Amino acid sequence: MKRALVTGAAGQIGTELVMALREGLGDTAVLATDLRDPGAEHPAVAGGPFRLLDCTDPDTLALRVREHRPDVVFHLAALLSAVGEARPQDAYRVNLGGLMNILEAARKEGFAVFTPSSIAAFGPGTPPDPTPQDTVQRPTTMYGVTKVAGELLCDYYQLKFGVDARGVRYPGLISHTAPPGGGTTDWAVEIFWAAVREGRYRCFLSHDVRLDMMYMPDAIRAALELMDADPGRLKHRNAFNVTAMQVTPEQMARAIQERLPDFGMGYAVDPVRQAIAESWPRRLDDSAAREEWGWQPEFGLHETVEDMLTQVTLAVEKSRPAHRAL
Ligand code: NAD
Ligand code: SER
Repeated sequence: MKRALVTGAAGQIGTELVMALREGLGDTAVLATDLRDPGAEHPAVAGGPFRLLDCTDPDTLALRVREHRPDVVFHLAALLSAVGEARPQDAYRVNLGGLMNILEAARKEGFAVFTPSSIAAFGPGTPPDPTPQDTVQRPTTMYGVTKVAGELLCDYYQLKFGVDARGVRYPGLISHTAPPGGGTTDWAVEIFWAAVREGRYRCFLSHDVRLDMMYMPDAIRAALELMDADPGRLKHRNAFNVTAMQVTPEQMARAIQERLPDFGMGYAVDPVRQAIAESWPRRLDDSAAREEWGWQPEFGLHETVEDMLTQVTLAVEKSRPAHRAL
């Protein structure tokens, strides 16, 4: 990989992926794009080239590709699960229409594509623990419908047209650089900011819903390692199960209380997001990713909580107005 273009670069994953890519390839080799301008201070804008791009607009996409000449496009633009349930028609248009435009551009221009799928590609009929790599997928959310169809579309373009399309099924992602974009696992980020700022958090999922989770440095490494993997070793191409830890809100709260003993956790269950969470797997079987490209997570629950609390505390202290000596 020499030159990359990232769609949805202002989002939770894109912000950190762009930073990692620029560190490896050089600032000007990575074009960050998004539907919205996140402002001059945002790392995707401040650290190198940034252009507006709506992935549902194939003409502007073609222009950006011709301008930048990427050999890999990381396609992150999407609407997440909770937003997708509120705006299902938009989720279909952006998640599938946008992906189709990217794959068509890849077919014509010859670049490789990374597209994340999700635990949301599974549904209530899927074996939840462990969830095999290849199994029943009957999701009950529009987001999940677009993820299953997107996995198949990527496989189709690889088999039919030879497009080098690859991807993983991310679990819920925990990070501190950019806020999450409206998913069912957003509580696992919000909890840290609330713990540091207010000492308490009210969770929108019940105390005992266990879901797969991953810390962002592992998620970024998964994307980069998969795109670097020897294609000869890949039996699957898209939608590799990956996971790092399985956590309930109560377990997360207890792990935070080990460092912040006064932290208090309450619950106000949102029935929409609760139903989504209950339809998702508890633990993905990631043995195909381990065997085919050497996937290995580095952050478990305690390492994640330790680093998140340190980083969020630093960020909160930095944002407080400095006290001036009188
Ligand atoms: P996010 O919501 O934080 O960011 C998505 C970005 O896409 C936003 O900056 C938004 O402005 C942009 N966008 C929306 N519509 C667009 C359009 N039409 N054209 C261009 N940009 C548009 O999402 P994220 O968490 O960074 O997720 C990125 C990808 O990873 C998505 O495909 C998502 O489904 C997948 N994923 C994320 C998680 C997670 O926990 N964050 C888990 C599993 C899979
Ligand atoms: N974290 C994502 C969501 O909750 C999973 O894809 O939507």
